[in-house]
Amino acid sequence: MKTKQILVVDDEPKMRRVLEIMLQQMGHRVLGAGNGCEALALFKAHTVDLVITDLRMPEMDGIELLGNLRAQESDVPVMVITAHGTIETAVAAMKHGACDYILRPFDIDALELAVERALNGAEVARQNAFLRQEIDRGWGAFVGTSQPMQAVYDLIQRVGPSKASVLITGETGTGKELAARAVHNASPRRERLFVPINCAAIPADILESELFGYEKGAFTGAQKERIGKFELADGGTIFLDELTEMPMALQAKLLRVLQENTIERLGGNRVINLDIRVIAATNRDPRQAVREGKLREDLYYRVNVFSIELPPLRKRVDDIAGLVEHFITKHGHSAEGTRLTAKALKRLEGYSWPGNVRELENMVERAVILSGGGLLDEPHFLLESQVADAHPKQPAASGDDSPRLPALNQAVEELEAKLIDDALAKAEGNKAKAAALLDISERTLWYKLKKYRPEQDPN
Ligand SMILES: Nc1ncnc2c1ncn2[C@@H]1O[C@H](COP(=O)(O)OP(=O)(O)OP(=O)(O)O)[C@@H](O)[C@H]1O
Ligand SMILES: [Mg+2]
Repeated sequence: MKTKQILVVDDEPKMRRVLEIMLQQMGHRVLGAGNGCEALALFKAHTVDLVITDLRMPEMDGIELLGNLRAQESDVPVMVITAHGTIETAVAAMKHGACDYILRPFDIDALELAVERALNGAEVARQNAFLRQEIDRGWGAFVGTSQPMQAVYDLIQRVGPSKASVLITGETGTGKELAARAVHNASPRRERLFVPINCAAIPADILESELFGYEKGAFTGAQKERIGKFELADGGTIFLDELTEMPMALQAKLLRVLQENTIERLGGNRVINLDIRVIAATNRDPRQAVREGKLREDLYYRVNVFSIELPPLRKRVDDIAGLVEHFITKHGHSAEGTRLTAKALKRLEGYSWPGNVRELENMVERAVILSGGGLLDEPHFLLESQVADAHPKQPAASGDDSPRLPALNQAVEELEAKLIDDALAKAEGNKAKAAALLDISERTLWYKLKKYRPEQDPN
């Protein structure tokens, strides 16, 4: 490779020296700077092909330096070094335009490779693809060829390429997160980040700063500025999991972000423009959540531009055999040696699967252990409860036949109360007569009045 000029920025002279020696061994010329200001001065005075900077430095940190370089309309590749191993810091730097990162401690080979890649102008997209892989570890493909799943794949393929917001519903364990990632991967944003955030898992007061980030000094403990998930997802996708668990006040703020495509960090007043695609998920019936005051109606309409409903496993029993095989190999066993008996399959197909695919996965993992890696037979599957098969105990939150009837009890009660009112009116308040009209005992009427019309009850 041709000799290049590399600017090395590190506040620790020893570290800087090590880098200088390594780079010189690779045949490059090196300029060394002990802080951001010095680096900027050197950058102005020399032709620099690559900047390698430490992230943590007093006064001007690596990201600020990066910002200052970009402010000079320079697109010099900047590689950051972080000793703090967290991919988050590196992501933040990449988000601000760093071309690559290298984790300390590193060896000369890793450094050489990274330097070569940076100098060859390996496009940012490739770096991000790498980063995405790191973050998306564990993302596997969908398994299942049943008709309801075909419909889901079809929707994903159709909605993926657009920027439309998507609301994914379905019972727990049906694969909502998998679907969200698939939508992202089917979009032109696939090279940018998919940023999941679980609204139910993060305490309400922290969720806001997680999403919006904050400026230094925004609140006690905010010693450094921090970019939030929205900023991280710029150009990519944010996945708001369990949206109905987000506090109402924050839902209002979220709606504004979606309408205006801008955010302000907490404690700041700088408006930051963003280009984000939103995918939300819930295992509740979103309309019911709106009625219960758990989900803002306007937000519901805003995110529900397109909806994907994942069918519960009991509605696609044809997929079970394939899924079992998938999970056998996923947990490190050969599908040849470890197979399901016909009897066991029949049993699994008759089960109600309240925990859906996740439950099946756990069950297979356990069965494989119990069977010692041989045939998976009926006794190896400890099904929780063979409840009135194929029917969930509770009305399904979603993913069931529509129209849904989640408020059936309530509707029945309302009707009952109305019939009682009518009968009493007809009987001019005479309870014995009203009971006769309704063909119930006086005692039952008394009981029901106590329940529905306690204010009228003389007792
Ligand atoms: N069709 C499928 N093929 C293969 N694996 C699947 C499928 N559906 C779900 N899984 C796996 O099942 C597990 C649960 O899926 P996921 O986390 O996407 O469910 P979810 O709907 O988000 O559940 P919850 O509502 O509880 O968050 C994951 O390990 C996922 O990889
Ligand atoms: Mg989930």
